[in-house]
Amino acid sequence: MTGTTLIDGIGLLYTGDPEREEIPDAALVIDDGLVAWAGPASQAPDADERVDAGGRAVIPGFVDSHAHLVFAGDRTAEFQARMSGEPYTGGGIRTTVAATRGAGDAELATRAFGLVNEMLAQGTTTVEIKSGYGLSVEDERRCLEIATALTDETTFLGAHVVPSDMDADAYVRLVAGEMLEACAPYAKWVDVFCERGAFDGDQTREILTAGVKAGLGARVHANQLTEGPGVRIACELGAASADHCTHLAPADVDALASSGTVATLLPGAEFSTRSPYPDARRLLDAGATVALATDCNPGSSFTSSMPFCVALAVREMRMTPLEAIRAATYGGARALRRTDVGWLRRGARADVVILDAPSYVHLAYRPGVPLVHQVFHGGLLLEEDIHNPPSDVVL
Ligand code: NIG
Ligand code: FE
Repeated sequence: MTGTTLIDGIGLLYTGDPEREEIPDAALVIDDGLVAWAGPASQAPDADERVDAGGRAVIPGFVDSHAHLVFAGDRTAEFQARMSGEPYTGGGIRTTVAATRGAGDAELATRAFGLVNEMLAQGTTTVEIKSGYGLSVEDERRCLEIATALTDETTFLGAHVVPSDMDADAYVRLVAGEMLEACAPYAKWVDVFCERGAFDGDQTREILTAGVKAGLGARVHANQLTEGPGVRIACELGAASADHCTHLAPADVDALASSGTVATLLPGAEFSTRSPYPDARRLLDAGATVALATDCNPGSSFTSSMPFCVALAVREMRMTPLEAIRAATYGGARALRRTDVGWLRRGARADVVILDAPSYVHLAYRPGVPLVHQVFHGGLLLEEDIHNPPSDVVL
């Protein structure tokens, strides 16, 4: 039998609910894995159990809507070369493809599970996981099968780059045909790296359209390295999200502001490739919905930390702490078209993070400090050993 749990003594509750985003001196009730009540502590109802937050701040679990966690190998050397002045081109993806193809399922699953655990310990309770380091029918399929054991938000990214041994046209046909057919049962989303050196506008449209026809939702790696057509294609096709958005023309900003496509910013990639950050202010001021995600991958952004991305967004992208926490929770949920996560309102999944801080502002004010005190995932308290969560948790 599951009882109700009251979390009280919350110094500041950031709910993520646009109707009532911040509640000082708050309490929250969990019932059967869901938020049953959130409001001022003075009005809190009774519950079977009580957890005292001790004046700490509480936020919804982070929604990391963009991550590449199924891979093998290491790209330390590429990072070192970049820090000595080499540019990032995306070409290193093929290095990871070779390592991933050579790895067994158990190795890939263990590594991905390890990264998910890192994420949980840092307050992430929903994560999207892409394929994209297999690039053959069977390697893409098995990478997605491994991802489905870890999350409901799986994305087919066969169109990451053209593998070195294939002709681009033949590869696009394969991705939109046989590979999609093999991968669709394991995927909720289809994604394309629309970029010079990866896939052009026509190829992106063809693959996304085939994916949508197969029942998948669209999302796009768009405008990361150059001002390409990715963002406009994403908006035109009704994609849930256009990710990166680093190089935007005025028409791209207008398209994002007037569509249901979320602009997902991935500042870990700019940090790790020493590139200019996306102009978050321009997007926010235009009225676009902005999300923040880690882009966790071995090449361009090997961080699993949403708090780090929040700190970067505030310091480097001129987002206010409120805009950044909103983008990392509510924004991520919008980017995955989810209404059950990303906020703490009645009926939402009880993904609750208690911070060792009086306010979410400390996520940016105290960068690099482990501020996650306790994590509830679907109402389950992961307190036993936050660095070793139970193996049956699916984010
Ligand atoms: O989102 N840009 C494409 N994909 C990843 C990078 C992958 C890699 O370099 O391995 C990204 O940054
Ligand atoms: Fe990515």
